[in-house]
Amino acid sequence: MNQDTLPSYLGQSEEVRARFERINQRETILEVRGLGKRYRSAQGEVEALSGIDFSVRRREFVCVIGPSGCGKSTLIRILAGLDHHTSGEALLDGKPIKGPGQDRGMVFQGYSLFPWLTVKKNVMFGPQMNGRGRDEAEHDAQLWLELVGLEKFADAYPHQLSGGMRQRVAIARALVNQPRILLMDEPFGALDAQTRAKMQSHLIDIWKNIDVTVLFITHDLDEAIYLADRILVLKAHPGEVQEIIEVPVPRSRTPAQFNSPEFRATKARLEELIHPAPEPETEDEQKVKPHLIRFTDVTDNVE
Ligand SMILES: Nc1ncnc2c1ncn2[C@@H]1O[C@H](COP(=O)(O)OP(=O)(O)OP(=O)(O)O)[C@@H](O)[C@H]1O
Ligand SMILES: [Mg+2]
Repeated sequence: MNQDTLPSYLGQSEEVRARFERINQRETILEVRGLGKRYRSAQGEVEALSGIDFSVRRREFVCVIGPSGCGKSTLIRILAGLDHHTSGEALLDGKPIKGPGQDRGMVFQGYSLFPWLTVKKNVMFGPQMNGRGRDEAEHDAQLWLELVGLEKFADAYPHQLSGGMRQRVAIARALVNQPRILLMDEPFGALDAQTRAKMQSHLIDIWKNIDVTVLFITHDLDEAIYLADRILVLKAHPGEVQEIIEVPVPRSRTPAQFNSPEFRATKARLEELIHPAPEPETEDEQKVKPHLIRFTDVTDNVE
């Protein structure tokens, strides 16, 4: 994005601009060009995604936000190879994505661990399926469990862990195959606010220490700004890229920055994009508005 054309609320400091220059010199890991997806169902056709264009550089952290139903999960499922696009293309390291592969790790919102396997065996599962010997897989699992701080829980079962701990196992399980890109679909969406904040800084720590690129879907604007280098804002019906924002908040990020002018300006811009001010209602619209059914005495008002 050309700095001169950026509105002032997204102005970048020298430090941030230099960081983006460094990122832009890195090779492209993921390239999405004119990607579209139509679903056909008994209710008719839904254009879930249309003409999606963006690329992600190596070790970049990109968040995707947008209103419910704008195609975020559809996009990530296509990139994971779990669904097929109907137009355009998606390339990972220059090769078209045609199905699932070890070069991508997935973390979903729901806990997708195998409940009948211990934590360690959950993490060993992928490498063993990919032909690693038992000892090697166990060694790898141990290493990644250490990285997510769960080595002491290797022999526990998922139901014995808290929600945050389960998602940490899911992250270890996604990273154990050393994927090029980590695809995360609202991974912290089911966690309470405090655990979520801890998981966010934990994820940043992990990302800083390994060679992985992250594409992270979230509903939470603070989460997107705190985590991302760039934020891809989608709009719904059809799902299209509305704007790509280079987050002007410097790294290393800290929760104290939530109140910084850059953070607040970015949040205001995202709010404007996601929740535009409603158009004033026309008289006709007001006439057809259904009356709310009321179950209290008409004189008993609360405001
Ligand atoms: N298997 C399917 N068959 C038909 N339509 C689908 C299917 N999966 C998704 N859709 C439709 O595609 C659109 C995008 O759905 P998707 O789940 O990708 O949205 P989302 O942005 O992830 O929403 P949310 O924020 O609620 O998770 C929606 O209109 C949805 O109804
Ligand atoms: Mg979704």
